Amino acid sequence: MGWPGMDLPGELSLRKENRSECKWKQPSRIYPLATFEDAEKGSGGKILPMKRILFFSFTFLLIVTACNQQYATPTLAPVPTLFVTDTPAPPTSTPLPEFTPTSFPSMKLQRGINMGDMLEAPNEGDWGLTVQEEYFDLIKEVGFDFVRLPVNWKAHTTRTGQDDGDMGYTIEPDFFARVDEVVDGALKRNLSVIIDFHHYEDLMADPNLNQFWFLWKQIAEHYRDYPSQVLFELANEPHGQMTAALWNKYIIAGMEAVRETNPTRDVIIGPVQWNAYDWVTTLDIPDDPHVIVTFHYYEPFSFTHQGAEWVEGSTLWLSTSWGESEEHKRILTQHFDLVADWAQRHNVRILLGEFGAYSKAPQESRIRWTEFVRSEAERHGFAWAYWEFASGFGVYDPEAKVWREELIKALIP
Ligand code: GLC
Repeated sequence: MGWPGMDLPGELSLRKENRSECKWKQPSRIYPLATFEDAEKGSGGKILPMKRILFFSFTFLLIVTACNQQYATPTLAPVPTLFVTDTPAPPTSTPLPEFTPTSFPSMKLQRGINMGDMLEAPNEGDWGLTVQEEYFDLIKEVGFDFVRLPVNWKAHTTRTGQDDGDMGYTIEPDFFARVDEVVDGALKRNLSVIIDFHHYEDLMADPNLNQFWFLWKQIAEHYRDYPSQVLFELANEPHGQMTAALWNKYIIAGMEAVRETNPTRDVIIGPVQWNAYDWVTTLDIPDDPHVIVTFHYYEPFSFTHQGAEWVEGSTLWLSTSWGESEEHKRILTQHFDLVADWAQRHNVRILLGEFGAYSKAPQESRIRWTEFVRSEAERHGFAWAYWEFASGFGVYDPEAKVWREELIKALIP
């Protein structure tokens, strides 16, 4: 669906799903682009992972059997069905009845904030921010009740296995200790915490079910005795080679890894295509009352990501405004209606896990958009988490040590 007045120059990506060239963040960020690009070289890039996954899935099953169930075996679907490499057609947008808030399963979470650019970076501090315990005081005082913690787990693994790495990645104890410190800091202030697996680019470029399962097994075991205020999110914004059908298999494996040690912890899952709202319909929701579905909302992308250094060509979008016309609001509402309608039919709780407009967007529009997204999320019964605390979208200015007044009011009036 087009956004009126936003036909912008060039063939630019208008949605995250199209931003294959954009990659991550400010130029100062060191990110292994090569692996990602390699995976996008067409079919050649698919054959190798297929063989590897076939081989290692098989080897893994053998080892597990031989070890007399030392590790609980995830119920892997017959291996060949894992390789759905074609991008499925986008879900059809059948006209939906007008949304009327009804009985949603109740949400413990309500208003949250993403601790972006901190433990999400390859090393905490690489992107200019580290988690300070005092942040949680501020966050609690101003009225948030949870934080979403993007964690780059994969960057903190040591390869210990002998099997070409599929199962051999062990999360470093020091890193666990640091994440614990942060999680404890939030819990102490009575903030719930979503532990999110962020920037798992290897998984998107060359999916490896056994590795995914094994990493989650470690995280789940580690936090098994934590209170229910700690939630898990299996993977941030699946994309690339992670197609909808494939991701549904990974969800099964991830859930099994978690459920072995955490039978009732809330686990968050979101759809492929960078958690796009209209892809929630492709999710096979596990038959489990402790599952929450998430989506991210950055529409229109040309508005929310104007001037974002990590989105190629986005300077051409500068000065894009939003919301002068009622039509803009109507479109946004329709998007949320689609999610809410689907959620009601599936009786599942929804978390709008990320939304935000970059600081280079015209301020008036930015505030208007943020306020409208937040209030529509609440009207639709979604919990929400703003992207993010103190960086490029930030609602807090870490240098001046003040909240950005208009933005925080748009979130917590
Ligand atoms: C995703 C990315 C994060 C980025 C945000 C906004 O969550 O993982 O790094 O800043 O989207 O583009």
